[in-house]
Amino acid sequence: MSKIQELEALLESYDGSIESRYCSLANTVAFLKTLLNEISWIGFYLKKDSELILGPFQGKIACERIPFTRGVCGDCYSKKETINVDNVNLYENHIACDSETCSELVIPLKSKSAKMVGVLDIDSNSFSRFKDEEIEMLEELVEIIGKKLF
Ligand code: SME
Repeated sequence: MSKIQELEALLESYDGSIESRYCSLANTVAFLKTLLNEISWIGFYLKKDSELILGPFQGKIACERIPFTRGVCGDCYSKKETINVDNVNLYENHIACDSETCSELVIPLKSKSAKMVGVLDIDSNSFSRFKDEEIEMLEELVEIIGKKLF
């Protein structure tokens, strides 16, 4: 089974309720984590009113609310595009939830009507962790997640 087929099978159980959406997002995070190495944190931030709120994740405790104007997450949400940060120390707007984080990838999460609904945030304790091929694969998976659940 390909990664896409595995993900689609996982999302099959979504029943349209908010509880089921959180359940699917939680399992999705666990699934994505199994595909990646050298990852310190992975999780969703979801739009609520005028900010992003922490959703299902795996890793250390993280900040719960991020304004659209703050952090790599806020920038990704506002620009509606993936942001790959090779060295978070050089990214002025970065929010340091964990001082050990070295690089970070944030991918926009869009609904089936192409509305921004949140972001997927992935952190690593290695610099320049995220490369083009893997980023493209993750973007494809996040697109499927957004279209199925929102
Ligand atoms: N570093 C993120 C904040 C979230 S934590 O990394 C989990 C940012 O700059 O938006």
